Amino acid sequence: MRVLTAATTALALMLGMATAQADAIKIKFAHVVAENTPKGQMALKFKELAESRLPGKVEVEVYPNSQLFNDNNVLEAMLLGDVQLAAPSLSKFNKYTKKLQVFDLPFLFKDMTAVEKFQSGPEGQKLLSSMSSKGLLGLGYLHNGLKQLSASKELRKPSDADGLKFRIQSSDVLAAQFEAVGATPLKKPFSEVFLLLQTKAIDGQENTWSNIYSKKFFEVQEHITASNHGLIDYLVVTSAEFWNDLPDDVRPVLEKSMKEAIAHGNMIAEQKVTGDRKRIADSGRSTILELSDAERAMWVKAMKPVWDKFAGEIGQDLIDAAVASNN
Ligand code: SIN
Repeated sequence: MRVLTAATTALALMLGMATAQADAIKIKFAHVVAENTPKGQMALKFKELAESRLPGKVEVEVYPNSQLFNDNNVLEAMLLGDVQLAAPSLSKFNKYTKKLQVFDLPFLFKDMTAVEKFQSGPEGQKLLSSMSSKGLLGLGYLHNGLKQLSASKELRKPSDADGLKFRIQSSDVLAAQFEAVGATPLKKPFSEVFLLLQTKAIDGQENTWSNIYSKKFFEVQEHITASNHGLIDYLVVTSAEFWNDLPDDVRPVLEKSMKEAIAHGNMIAEQKVTGDRKRIADSGRSTILELSDAERAMWVKAMKPVWDKFAGEIGQDLIDAAVASNN
């Protein structure tokens, strides 16, 4: 009899848990990078915080490495309700807003302190809702870091890039930036970059130390120029309809969890700048080139005219605010 009671209790508990699981709000978080990156770690931290604070109410599934969607289709999927969270690079929102192109202007931010200052200031915060008419809501910015140039040959001066093919993210500003040095830009998803480099279908690419390391680009690129010429940061984004429909006892907890997860990711981003750069240097697979001030000035001179080309779409006020964050 006692055995029967224990079994009945266990069954009831299991059924209760199953019902709670079935009722839980499912949140799919899709991204394209590896788990050992700022974004990968941020997504896992969000899952940990959200599920521990809202047990049985929320279930977060994280899909790294473009397993569920890539950056070219994730936003469409989000608007269809097939994914609830993503954090594409700021260079991948062209279809939805031209304003975020400000982050792609070459040699705009002198360091990540300036980036943080701009993002947390009034203009940066306003950009979070720049796509609300399209149904997308920015929940916050996440750092990765400044971009470096890599190629199959040494890139010391802009003319070294002349005639080379570079993979870029889906950004017209980035296309113009490479055209400005006589190179051919090719818009390709992140998931294809390694193979394109390995098979020499392209000659180079631009990315952060953490992406170059975690996706092993340094194994198939002999030369990296420590150029710090641009930025890869992210907008954590959701569907406005999904977010606004969340129950009132759930949304604030998710907001708090996201804020903390982003802080965690930002801390990792900071560590990875030096850590992953050192790992690449120690591997001996790539040579890292430091530019002299004069060489750097040549890149700035060649690429900066791109700013004028996009000032109309972005808005000169926004560009000025970003520049001011360097002071
Ligand atoms: C990412 O960091 O999410 C991808 C960046 C890229 O496409 O190069």
